Amino acid sequence: MNESQNLDELLVSRSDQARRPAEPCTVVIFGASGDLTARKLIPALYHLTLEKLMPQPFRIVGFARREKSDETWRTELREALNKFSRTQPVQEDVWNAFAANIHYCQADMSDESGYQKLKALVHGFPDERLRTNLLFYLATNPSQFGEVTGHLSAVGLLQKAESKVTPERIVVEKPFGHDLETAEALNLELTRFAHEKQIFRIDHYLGKETVQNILTFRFSNGIWERLWNRECIDHVQITVAEKLGVGSRGGYYEEAGAIRDMVQNHVLQVLSLVGMEPPSSLEAENVRDEKVKLLKSIRPMTPAQVAENVVRGQYFAGEVDGELRPAYRSETKVKPNSHVETFLAMRLFVDNWRWHGVPFYIRTGKNLPLSASEIRVQFKSAPNILFAAKDQLDSNSLTLRLQPNEGMTLRFNGKVPGGAAELRPVRMHFSYDSEFGAYTPEAYERLLLESMAGDATLFIRRDEVETAWKIVDAIRRAWVGKPLTNREFYAAGTWGPAAADDLLAKSGHEWRNPQSKH
Ligand code: BG6
Repeated sequence: MNESQNLDELLVSRSDQARRPAEPCTVVIFGASGDLTARKLIPALYHLTLEKLMPQPFRIVGFARREKSDETWRTELREALNKFSRTQPVQEDVWNAFAANIHYCQADMSDESGYQKLKALVHGFPDERLRTNLLFYLATNPSQFGEVTGHLSAVGLLQKAESKVTPERIVVEKPFGHDLETAEALNLELTRFAHEKQIFRIDHYLGKETVQNILTFRFSNGIWERLWNRECIDHVQITVAEKLGVGSRGGYYEEAGAIRDMVQNHVLQVLSLVGMEPPSSLEAENVRDEKVKLLKSIRPMTPAQVAENVVRGQYFAGEVDGELRPAYRSETKVKPNSHVETFLAMRLFVDNWRWHGVPFYIRTGKNLPLSASEIRVQFKSAPNILFAAKDQLDSNSLTLRLQPNEGMTLRFNGKVPGGAAELRPVRMHFSYDSEFGAYTPEAYERLLLESMAGDATLFIRRDEVETAWKIVDAIRRAWVGKPLTNREFYAAGTWGPAAADDLLAKSGHEWRNPQSKH
C-alpha cells in the first residue's frame, strides 16, 4: 500500500468513527398537518428510505388536531410528495414500504389525554427500540414548546437525562425567539423538561452539503489554513441573495425583517464556520465551542458604530427577470409605511488573533437579481512593482459557492498569450456536479438523519443562539426611532441600496456580485 492510500484510509476511518449510525426509532411530529411536514419532513424521510439510510425498523407518528385516520393522512402525504419530492416520479414500492410505518395520532396539544393516547400508540410498537428511542419534532409555534414538552414529561415519554444511551430528543425549528430575552425564556422552558444535550435546534443552512464542506475544506487541506488569517486575507464577503420577495409571508416578515429572518441564524452560522479556529475533534461540543468563540469575538457595536457599519434596505417596485415585482410596502399584510428591512449589509470585525483588522462584509436581501449564497475571500494584493505599468492588479480571491452552481472558484492573474505583457484574471473551478454527479440531498435529509442518530454537531447550541441574539439585539436597538433614509431603498431586481455600496467604498472595497454562470 502506498502512502497516499494509507492516508485515504485514515481519513475515511476517522470520519466514519465520527458518525454515529441512526438506531431504530420513532419520530413524532407535532403540528403534523402543517406545511413543513408535507413540504420538507416527509419528502426528506421518504428520500432517506429510498437511499436506504433510514434505520430499520422505524415509525413516524403525526400528532395533530384534525380528525383523520392513518390511511387518510398517508393519502394526503402521498399527494404532497408528488408535488414536493426532489426526485420524480415517486417510487411506488418504496413509498408503500415507507408509508406502512406512518401513523396518525389525533389529539389536542393542550390536552393531556392526547399524550396518553400517543403513549399507548408508541408502546404498542413491536420493537423495544421503537418504544424507547424517541425523537419529538416540534413543527409548532414556539409558544407551544413548553406545553408540549411539559405534557410529554408528565406522561413519561420524555425524561430529562444527560447520559442515557438513547435519550429522547427534541427538534425545534426557527424562529428560536424574537430577541435574547425571548430566546432565553424558550431555552428555560425547554430545559425544564429536557437536558440541553437532548435539544436539537435546526438551522437548515447547516444541513447543506456546501456549508458542511467549509470545515472540510479549511481543515483537511494543507494550503488554506496558512493563508486563512489577517496576514493574507484583505476582507471577506458573505452574500446570501434571494430573487424572491416576501410573497405571502408579509405578516411574519413585518416582525422579523432580514436581520431576524436571515442574519441571526443562517448568515452568522456561515460566518462562524468561515472564521472559527480548528476544533480539537469533530465531536459536536468541540465544533460548537469554536463556533461560539468566534461569535463572541465579533466586536460589539455602539449605536454610533451601527450607524456607520450597518445598512438597511427595503425594496420598492421593480423588475426581476422581466417580471414586475410590487414594492414591499404593497405586499399583503405589510404596513404601507413599514420601515422593516428586506435587505441588510454590514461590516463586522472579529477581534481575535487571526482576524484582527479584517473586515467581514455580510449582506442578504430579497428581490435581488439572483438567488445565490456565496463566500468570497479576497486576498491581499501582490506588491505592484513588476507590473506597475499595467492597471491595478486584480487581487486573488477564492469564492465558495454554497448555492446554486455549488462549487469553488479560485481567481488569479495570468498572462494573456502573445507578445504584449498583458495580464488578466483567470479562474480555476471546482464544481460539485462535475466532480460528484448531481447528488443534491435536501438539507432536511441530513438534519433528520443526524437528529435520529443523536449527533448534535449540525444543530445550534443554547449559547450559540443566545450569542447571535446579542449581536442582533444591539443592532436593532440602535434602529429604534430611526426610519429608513432615502439611500436605503432599492428597486426590486437590483443589488440593494446605494448605501450598501458606500459602506464598502469607505474602505476602498467593492461588492463582488455573484454571477449566474461560472
Ligand atoms: C429561511 C427564511 O430560513 O431561509 C426564508 O425564513 C429564506 O426567508 C430561506 O427564503 C432561504 O433558504 P434557502 O435554503 O432557500 O437559501
